[in-house]
Amino acid sequence: MFENLDLLPPDPILGLLAAYGEDPNPGKVDLGIGVYKDEKGDTPIMAAVKKAQEMYLAKETTKTYVGPAGDERFNAAIGELLFGKDHAVIKDARLATIQTPGGCGAVRMAAEFIKRSNPEVTVWVSNPTWANHMPLLGDSGLRIEEYPYYDYQAHCIRFEEMVSTLKGAGSDAVVLLHGCCHNPCGADLNRDQWQVISEMAVTQGFLPVVDIAYQGLGDGIAEDAFGTRLLADTVPELIVASSCSKNFGLYRERTGSVNLIMRNTKQLRASQSQMLSVTRGVYSMPPAHGASIVECILNDTELSKLWAIELSQMCDRINDLRRLLVRKLRAKGTNADFSFIEAEKGMFSFLGISPEQVHRLKNEFSIYMLDSSRINVAGINHSNIDYLVDSLHQVF
Ligand code: LMR
Repeated sequence: MFENLDLLPPDPILGLLAAYGEDPNPGKVDLGIGVYKDEKGDTPIMAAVKKAQEMYLAKETTKTYVGPAGDERFNAAIGELLFGKDHAVIKDARLATIQTPGGCGAVRMAAEFIKRSNPEVTVWVSNPTWANHMPLLGDSGLRIEEYPYYDYQAHCIRFEEMVSTLKGAGSDAVVLLHGCCHNPCGADLNRDQWQVISEMAVTQGFLPVVDIAYQGLGDGIAEDAFGTRLLADTVPELIVASSCSKNFGLYRERTGSVNLIMRNTKQLRASQSQMLSVTRGVYSMPPAHGASIVECILNDTELSKLWAIELSQMCDRINDLRRLLVRKLRAKGTNADFSFIEAEKGMFSFLGISPEQVHRLKNEFSIYMLDSSRINVAGINHSNIDYLVDSLHQVF
C-alpha cells in the first residue's frame, strides 16, 4: 500500500534544529527555530508558569474529558487578552474562543472551517510568510495565493503593492495577516496601514484571518494586539488564531485558540457549532495541561502581573539584542547597512544575505539560520554575539 511513497526532505525549520543538535562544535550558534532563549541560551519555564502549574496540580481533581471547545475559563481569559476586557465583541456576544492544540491547530481549524462553508475561496498569504502556513492552509484543500509584503532590498513592507494586489482579490477572498512580529521578516504593519487594510476588508468584503503567535514580544501586550483589535472593531466577520507557545513559553504543551467573531450572536452560535464539529472530527478535544496553566495565570492577579513582567523582560531583551547587533555590525565596518533590524519586531529578521553566505555560516562557523537568512534574534547572547559578528563579517 505504501511502496510508492517518496522520501520527503526534512521540514526547513525542524530539519535545521536536528542538524544543529548533531553539530559537535561547542561554539555552535542556533538562530534557527523560533524559540525564546535567555542569556545562557536556555529556554526556561517562566516563573509564573511554574507557580501556576503547582497551583493547578494541587487543585486538579479529575482527568475526565474537557469537551471539544476546551477549557471555558481559558477561552474567556484568552478572549480578553486578545481583544481587551471591555471590547464590544465580548460584550455583544459576537466572540467565540475555542481552545486548540497550539497556534498550528488554530490555523488548521480555521482553514477547515472556512473550507466547510466556502470550499472555493482563495486564501491570500503574505510573501513571505511562515513556511508552515502553506501546509496548514493548503492541505485543507483551500487555494492559496500570495500578496507582496516584504521588500528584501529596501527592508520594508511593499504596502502599495500589497494593497493593489488585495484590491484585485475581490470579495470572495480570505486574507491572512500576521497580528504582530511578522514571521519571518519582523516587519509589521504600522497603525495607518492596519487602518487601510481594515477599511478595505469592510468595503471590499474579504475575510481577514489574523495569526497572532507573538503577542507581547514586539512592543507590549496591548500594543501588539492593535491590528487585531482594530479589525474586531471594524469588520463584521473575523477569525483569529492565537498561540501561547511563545508568550507563555508553553511550546510542547500545544496551547492555542481559534477565535470566531461573527455579525451577530445567532450567526456565532451556528459557526461555533460547525467549528466544534470540525475539531471533533479532527482531534476530538484539545490537550488540557497548557490551557489550565494559562487559565490559572490570567485569572490570578498576582500571577498575571508576574507573567506580564517576565514577558516584558523577554521583549526588552530581544529589542536590546537588536540594537546591540546593529551597533556591533556597524562598528565592525561590515559592508552592508543592518539598521533595519533595529526597527523590526519580535523574534525574527532576515539578515538579507544570500543562501551561499548562509551555508558558509553553517558549514564553516556552525551558525544556523534558515536559508532565507531568517534569524531568531533571541538566539543571540553576550557570549556569542562577537563570534556572530566576526563570522558574518568574514562571509561578506
Ligand atoms: C518558527 O517559525 O521557527 C516557529 O514558529 C516554530 C515552528 O514550528 O516552525
